[in-house]
Parts: sequence; structure tokens; C-alpha cells
Amino acid sequence: MKNEDYINYNELWDYVTDNLVILPSSIHGPTHWKSVEKYGLYLSQKTGADQNVVCLFAIFHDCKRINDGKDMEHGLRGANFAKLLRNKYFGLNDRLFDLLYLACKGHTEIIIHEDPTIATCWDADRLDLRRIGIQPNVAYLNTEIAKTIVTNNSYEIVNRITNKRDK
Ligand SMILES: [Fe+2]
Repeated sequence: MKNEDYINYNELWDYVTDNLVILPSSIHGPTHWKSVEKYGLYLSQKTGADQNVVCLFAIFHDCKRINDGKDMEHGLRGANFAKLLRNKYFGLNDRLFDLLYLACKGHTEIIIHEDPTIATCWDADRLDLRRIGIQPNVAYLNTEIAKTIVTNNSYEIVNRITNKRDK
């Protein structure tokens, strides 16, 4: 199984949501993860991001928050949780797992990344700031397609994407 890319999506989702510290209704909870996944999968069509990493980032990046405020270590905890569950609920080769780990670890402190998969993950997260009434700022986005969505106010276009969980 090692180094083979797969996600046992429903089993992973259930395990992670069963182990939340924040409330499931949190602004950083599963509803947000589904939006990040949709944005990420949509962006990936243009950016060429790895879609398994995008889907895993959506689940892991905020899942180890202990509050909805300033929790500076949550990205690192999410990355380490992904490391714990690797080869149990999903598999990624070493190169892709490193991208997932870095994307989770750095998503709040680092703005720009040259790798298209990490860039896509971070833009997907930032596009969903609208859920808390914040308009995404193109200066904090990496990819041209995400900037276009903001400039054209065309967020609804991602509703063409179906979440893995809903399939
Ligand atoms: Fe997030």
C-alpha cells in the first residue's frame, strides 16, 4: 500500500470528524472543508494541482484547531495528524505527501508558494473567507484562476463541482 495514491474518503472523513476538538458547526469545521474542496478541485482544472492532495488538504488543514481564533499551531497539528493517518485512510507517494504536509503546516503564515498544488490549496482556503463576511484580497492569492473568480465575483461557478463525500 505504501507509495500508492488513494483515499478511503468516507472512512477518513468519519474518523477525522469523530476526533474534532472544535464544534462540527465551527466556521473552521466540515462545512468549510467541503467548500475548500470544491474551490480546490475547481482551481486544479486550471492549475494542474494534484487533486488527492487538494482533497486531503481540505480535510486536514483546520481539523486540529482547538478554537476558532488565534491558534497558531493548528496547521502543524493538522499536518502531523495527516502523517499519523497516512497509509491507514489514504496513501500518497513521498513527494505528494510532502506537499500536503507543507500546505497544512504553512497555510496561515505563508502567503505565496511557487508549487501549483500548494498554491491551489491556499487559494481554495482563502476564497472561502466569504463565509465569515470577508472578501478575499487578490494580493493574498497565488493563482490567476482564483484572482479571476474574485475579480469577476464568480464564486458560484464552483458549485459545478461535487464533493467527494456527497458522491
Ligand atoms: Fe481553512
